[in-house]
Amino acid sequence: MTTTILVTGGCGFIGSNFIHHLHAVRNSWKVVCVDALTYAGNLGNLDEIRSWENFTFERASIADRGAMDEVFSAHKIDYVVNFAAETHVDRSIEDATNFILTNVGGTQVLLDSERAHGVKRHLQVGTDEVYGSLGVAGFFVETMSLHPNSPYAASKASADLLCLAAHHTHAQDVVITRCSNNYGPYQFPEKMIPLMLRNALSDKQLPVYGDGMNVRDWLYVEDHLKAILLVLEKGRAGEVYNVGGHNEWHNIDLVKHILNELGKPESLIKFVEDRKGHDLRYAIDPEKIASELGWKPETMFPEGIKKTIKWYSDNQKWLDDVTSGDYLEYYNKMYKVDSDGTVTR
Ligand code: NAD
Ligand code: DAU
Repeated sequence: MTTTILVTGGCGFIGSNFIHHLHAVRNSWKVVCVDALTYAGNLGNLDEIRSWENFTFERASIADRGAMDEVFSAHKIDYVVNFAAETHVDRSIEDATNFILTNVGGTQVLLDSERAHGVKRHLQVGTDEVYGSLGVAGFFVETMSLHPNSPYAASKASADLLCLAAHHTHAQDVVITRCSNNYGPYQFPEKMIPLMLRNALSDKQLPVYGDGMNVRDWLYVEDHLKAILLVLEKGRAGEVYNVGGHNEWHNIDLVKHILNELGKPESLIKFVEDRKGHDLRYAIDPEKIASELGWKPETMFPEGIKKTIKWYSDNQKWLDDVTSGDYLEYYNKMYKVDSDGTVTR
């Protein structure tokens, strides 16, 4: 029997990379992609996939129960991997409405519709931000209580809890991954690494929040995809698996590293007003997924960032396409860009 998988949010950064990965390593599977094509969704991310005979695209919102019931009726889905979400912390600080509708409401709609249609397993793509902020020491482990600090993180924590509630109440088979910051091809340039790369490539200022001493734990996207597939196929129902590769960077050091790789001057750095409620440090302990499922990261940062820089340098048209229109308006407002291009935030 052929396996059929529903990938939600498959036109975004990690979801589209996941579909490329399935094409390479589970080529006999049938893949249905549901995406609402918000500002962050781009069908162009799947250009090379759309001629794959096992691939189907459905434009729909995961928060629309009628539409999701139709998808589950039209395709006999075995697995759901839920990437679909509003994902940018800064946008959630401005207006969290869509974060609640999609991340919370959409996850519950999926769980309910899946149960009604006999889906075998739901994998919720979660985030380490649900744990809150670390001080200078320690790591996030799965048994920690949740302390989400941003509206985005709170919506993702709610989604995780709804999944665990479905497991407890209905014995629904759910698994959750909680990953650290990803980087790699197809990441929308509102996020730090592609934003800095794009600005550096065109000699624009690089806006670093606060003093640049916040710490993020970066993982190459392909390693995240491998972890997701492993948990989907071998993880224990009702369990949470942290995913991360012990690769912590102060933001300022990472920005300097990018400039150095590109041969651009550090004078492009502009320290700007800090993000409200900015979490100081994220750092994952991946011991559970390593010891239980044998996962470990394969792409080390020096190689991963070189590949990422090359991808963005080679895909200037993709960058131009996704940053035209609405993005420009968002960028100019968010960073208070004045008429000569100076960031005044
Ligand atoms: P993204 O913003 O690049 O993509 C999100 C996708 O979801 C887009 O294609 C968008 O069109 C789609 N979408 C939004 N609302 C929808 C709706 N109502 N119905 C259907 N589709 C909808 O996000 P990403 O960075 O690829 O993140 C994917 C998932 O991984 C998210 O759940 C995020 O919370 C999680 N995550 C991301 C990271 C990271 O570093 N990017 C780390 C850990 C976890
Ligand atoms: O940890 C996982 C999370 O990582 C995911 O769940 C989120 O979806 C994803 O967006 C990401 O959240 P962050 O807030 O950590 O990522 P972002 O790229 O927005 O910012 C990374 C760090 O860089 C953070 O400390 C804020 C800082 N930053 C960001 C931007 C956009 C800047 O200094 N300047 C910027 O312009």
